[in-house]
Amino acid sequence: SKEGYPHFMLKEIHEQPLAINSTLAGIEEGAFNKVVNAILDSRKILIIGAGTSYHAGLVGDYLLTSMLGLDTHTLISSEYRKYLNAVNDGDTVIAISQSGETIDTLVAVRAFKERGAKIIAISNVIDSAIPRESNYVLYTRAGPEIGVAATKTFTTQLTVLTILALKIGVATGKLTTNEYRSAMDMIGKIPGLLQNVITKTEGKVKALSEHMSKKQSAYYLGRGIGVPLSMEGALKLKEIAYIHAEAYPAGESKHGPIALVEENYPVVFSILDDDNADAMLGNVMEMKARDAYIIGLVPDKYVGKFRELLNVTLEMPSIDYRVAPVIYIVPMQLLAYYTAVARGYDPDKPRNLAKTVTVE
Ligand code: BG6
Repeated sequence: SKEGYPHFMLKEIHEQPLAINSTLAGIEEGAFNKVVNAILDSRKILIIGAGTSYHAGLVGDYLLTSMLGLDTHTLISSEYRKYLNAVNDGDTVIAISQSGETIDTLVAVRAFKERGAKIIAISNVIDSAIPRESNYVLYTRAGPEIGVAATKTFTTQLTVLTILALKIGVATGKLTTNEYRSAMDMIGKIPGLLQNVITKTEGKVKALSEHMSKKQSAYYLGRGIGVPLSMEGALKLKEIAYIHAEAYPAGESKHGPIALVEENYPVVFSILDDDNADAMLGNVMEMKARDAYIIGLVPDKYVGKFRELLNVTLEMPSIDYRVAPVIYIVPMQLLAYYTAVARGYDPDKPRNLAKTVTVE
């Protein structure tokens, strides 16, 4: 049941602190250890997924590549053929699918398995097709997700991927035991932080959605781990509010997309507490110079620096970039939700989309 919420999507957005807590409580050390060992034995890691699961994969890729220096490649499941020749015996493929049934991902799993790869599934549905055909499984414990647009399955996928990256980090010596412990402590704080962000931003986001509902197009910009985060934010707006939304790395504006920006064009910036904050300030200024309508998700410690340039400031906690996507996506989910409602659409049942696509 919707438990008093007007839509499943809103209920599921609000359930995320609980879903992450359940996922943390359900972590099976034995399963993680096997996965870590399989990854340590492989030369290359491929990550595959479709839609939101692909975006979770890109966040995981960022951690494995930039934090650990592992040879990681992330691809949309239906594009698996590009890598068939690049996979060697014993390489690992992480297949992400909340339903565990998406045909594109299943087909890719079968093809890579035939090439000798070991498959690690990350799924929310126990014993679904992809976990059944995989060598190892890590489950998210988000509970059933009814809304077609993935929300709590995404943030729990990110939780599992971040923990996996930390465990690989400590196993390879890239992270010290102390670094690992403090990062795990930080993950334990996510549910509380996320709850605060919902409480603090929901009213503001709802007011903003009235404005957004009249727009035809929007950009979502970030740098670093903020790029896949922005891709997921844009997908949410597109799939349920039917507003064209595009995400790209903020540094690319001047190489093309800024040509489209005119007065009041909406741009959503995800500014993180990382090495990119100064460069992001420059990117916000270049949009400001075109009189864009700028929405900024800003860590509290940088609010003073950015506020003047922003039309709407959504204050985020100043947190380690590695866990920022889990927190930052929530106001963007709410923005898509309230914009869809303001436009008169049912966010639970977007046109032309199905929760699980089982035919190619
Ligand atoms: C889609 C859903 O078609 O499948 C998306 O509408 C989802 O919301 C995508 O992200 C992938 O699904 P899954 O189950 O493989 O994670």
